[in-house]
Formats: sequence, C-alpha cells, structure tokens
Amino acid sequence: EKDKELIRGSWESLGKNKVPHGVVMFSRLFELDPALLSLFHYSPNCGSTQDCLSSPEFLEHVTKVMLVIDAAVSHLDDLHSLEDFLLNLGRKHESAGVSTQSFAVVGESLLYMLQCSLGQAYTAPLRQAWLNLYSVVVAAMSRGWAK
Ligand code: HEM
Repeated sequence: EKDKELIRGSWESLGKNKVPHGVVMFSRLFELDPALLSLFHYSPNCGSTQDCLSSPEFLEHVTKVMLVIDAAVSHLDDLHSLEDFLLNLGRKHESAGVSTQSFAVVGESLLYMLQCSLGQAYTAPLRQAWLNLYSVVVAAMSRGWAK
C-alpha cells in the first residue's frame, strides 16, 4: 500500500508532462545502448540521436510508452487485468527485434528519468516501489517472447 502511494504521488505531476519526461528516458536509453536506436525503422532517416528523438515517429513511441506506464499506475490494484495487453505488447517487441535483456537498461533509464524529475523526492523506498512495478510489467511483456 505504501508502494502504491509513493507511485501515485510521484506520477501525479510527471504524468501531466508525459512527452518531455519520456524524451529524457529515451535519451538516456540510447546513451546507454545506442544499438537500440536502429530497431526503429525510421532511425536511418535522421542524422543524430537528438534529431531522432525529436522526430514525430519517436515522439509517438515515447507517448505510447508513457501511456503504458500511465495505465500501469492507474491499475495498481488490478495489474493482472493488463496481462493480455502486455503479453501482446511483448510479442510486438519481439517482432521489432527487441531482446528481453534490453529491459534492464530500459528500467535504468526509467529510474534515471524519475531521479531527474523528482530530485529530493527520489528516495530509496520510492525507487524500490517503481522497480517492483516495472518488474511486474516486464514479466508480463516477457511472456510474449517465444522461448
Ligand atoms: C511499438 C521499439 C520499449 C510500448 C514499438 C515499435 C518499435 C518499438 C520499433 C513499432 C514501431 C512504433 O510504434 O514506433 C521499442 C524499443 C524499446 C521499446 C527498441 C526499448 C528497448 C517499449 C516500452 C514500452 C513500449 C518499455 C511500454 C512499456 C510500445 C507500444 C507500441 C510500441 C505501446 C505500439 C504497439 C502497437 O502498435 O500496438 N516499440 N520499444 N515500448 N512500443 Fe516499444
């Protein structure tokens, strides 16, 4: 319950500005693993990572990612209701060439974004609460990969 409060409280302000926060997250992601950029079929069309991150297609994906996080936050009490959706989302990412190992670096980028935007409010319990939520989402998405 404490976890849920921490997550809801921190997402309240963040969720109002999804795209800029998502851009911070994905800038970090491509900094940590530049190869992920090439999984977006439109990436050859842009010169630099920064150009890519400001292209409409990227901003659209960033928006989609933030909406999935938003859905997870609003379904904290019944996360299992998102299971089918997340399994399908995993399948689509497998087809896109994403590997489940990349989720670790996505998680790091999510925490980085939270730390940047929350400042002092980014505490150890808050970090752990988000890690717990993220691991539920990752576990559900990972079921979409053929083994
Ligand atoms: C779609 C790549 C992480 C949510 C896609 C597509 C690609 C992609 C190539 C299809 C083209 C497009 O819609 O732009 C990646 C990569 C990721 C990543 C490389 C990181 C390694 C995530 C995460 C989420 C997410 C963490 C949410 C938790 C979505 C959604 C779609 C999508 C909702 C649209 C699926 C549909 O068409 O129904 N992603 N993605 N992605 N991604 Fe990701």
